[in-house]
Amino acid sequence: MSAAFVTVILAAGQGTRMKSALPKVMHPVAGLPMYAHIVEAALGAGAHEVVLVVGHGRAEVEQDVRSRFDSRVRTVVQERQLGTGDAVRVGVQGLKDSEGYVVILYGDTPLVHEQLVSALMTTATESGARAVVLTSELTNPAGYGRILRDASGKVLGIREQKDASPSELAVREINCGAYAFQAGFLREALAKLLTDNAQGELYVTDVVGQAAALDSVATVSWNFDDVGGVNDRAQLAVCETAMRQRIAERFARSGVTIRDLATAYIEAHVTIEPDVIIEANVHLRGNTKIESGARIDVGSVLNNVTVARGAYLKPYTVASDSSIGERVETGPFAHLRPESVLEADSKIGNFVEMKKTRLGRGSKASHLSYLGDGVIGTHVNIGAGTIFCNYDGVNKHVTTIEDDAFIGSDSQLIAPVRIGEGAYVGTGSTINRDVPAGALAISRAKQENKLGYATK
Ligand code: UD1
Ligand code: CA
Repeated sequence: MSAAFVTVILAAGQGTRMKSALPKVMHPVAGLPMYAHIVEAALGAGAHEVVLVVGHGRAEVEQDVRSRFDSRVRTVVQERQLGTGDAVRVGVQGLKDSEGYVVILYGDTPLVHEQLVSALMTTATESGARAVVLTSELTNPAGYGRILRDASGKVLGIREQKDASPSELAVREINCGAYAFQAGFLREALAKLLTDNAQGELYVTDVVGQAAALDSVATVSWNFDDVGGVNDRAQLAVCETAMRQRIAERFARSGVTIRDLATAYIEAHVTIEPDVIIEANVHLRGNTKIESGARIDVGSVLNNVTVARGAYLKPYTVASDSSIGERVETGPFAHLRPESVLEADSKIGNFVEMKKTRLGRGSKASHLSYLGDGVIGTHVNIGAGTIFCNYDGVNKHVTTIEDDAFIGSDSQLIAPVRIGEGAYVGTGSTINRDVPAGALAISRAKQENKLGYATK
């Protein structure tokens, strides 16, 4: 078991190599800003305090932290980016608890997860070392700090790429950028840091050097797949692919059929129950939740959508902020805009668009319709080409259709309007007055046949 710990996450750097107006740590990976993955890893592993060091683009980062994590994460400001050592100093000053271990993580290593943080702390607790460092073996270690060891394997320190001699550059064991330090030791060591290096910065890696001088460093070796840093957008894309693979595999192992791991685009906060089928090239975003027995067919894109048991989303269903009930069928080519609700056993077919509309139990709109700002009862049949004319150019109005009504094809319902229970709207009607329950409304012009006219 690992002891209680606190975490400081460094996220103040500019990220010049991203070439972006967006602060580096705000770039999303699997739908979450990079830094948020690391915060979740720390909280998930049991950190009882998390401090995020912000600087570059801080207003944007601070606001995101508040909206996502509220009081669970505090931000502190590093006014000038004088190096990772300085950032840790600022972060440590922001901590309330000064006992035990401080775990330091970087905001630009989004694949870091909870088990990795726990492993650091387990080694810290078991070894009692002043410093615990996560390391990895790489065939191409370029760009990373190298772990220097003596002949017996004892850690001597960490050398940054820019400060390394040719023989040091040949070292393939790298510093992943995840540490656990004894709090008291860390404070003393930070005060002794110097800028005598190629970049003229304060390096947190030199804190490890100081622990090495006291023969008090432990290392945890870890798979590089979990610790790759993002310094440019090529590395961002690599992380995105790795994260996508990780998420898809996790669901596949938990009983979800993922037809094609490589094209299952599932964001970090999506939940999927066992016995769901996800066909190729499906995008599940935000807080989408899919219940058991549902099937999401090719090319569907769902953002913050709840899909209940047994629903079948045929190919190219595009939906956001909506709720799809049990055994509902949608598509192919259906579009649910925000606040659409499809109750159990209802159905929308190809080229049906819904917005802020409730479709009652067992009701159907099978072809080519626009249903906006509607309240539709149970067992209603909406014919092909029906339009809810909800917008008068200034305001939106509601169309209400009561239970068991039948709307003939190619009808326009001009809102506000109410179609009563069991009423029938004749095909091709333009309806701008309420239709009483049980009535037939028909507004199209009467057909006239002029005999022989065409031949003449
Ligand atoms: C760092 C490590 C390197 C390691 C690598 C792993 C140091 C000196 N080097 O190098 O050994 O192999 O990460 O990915 O630590 N930051 C601040 N304030 C600053 C400077 C940086 O908050 O003044 C933040 C950055 O926003 C970033 C993190 O610290 O999230 C790491 O900084 P970065 O400049 O990316 O360090 P690397 O060169 O990648
Ligand atoms: Ca980096």
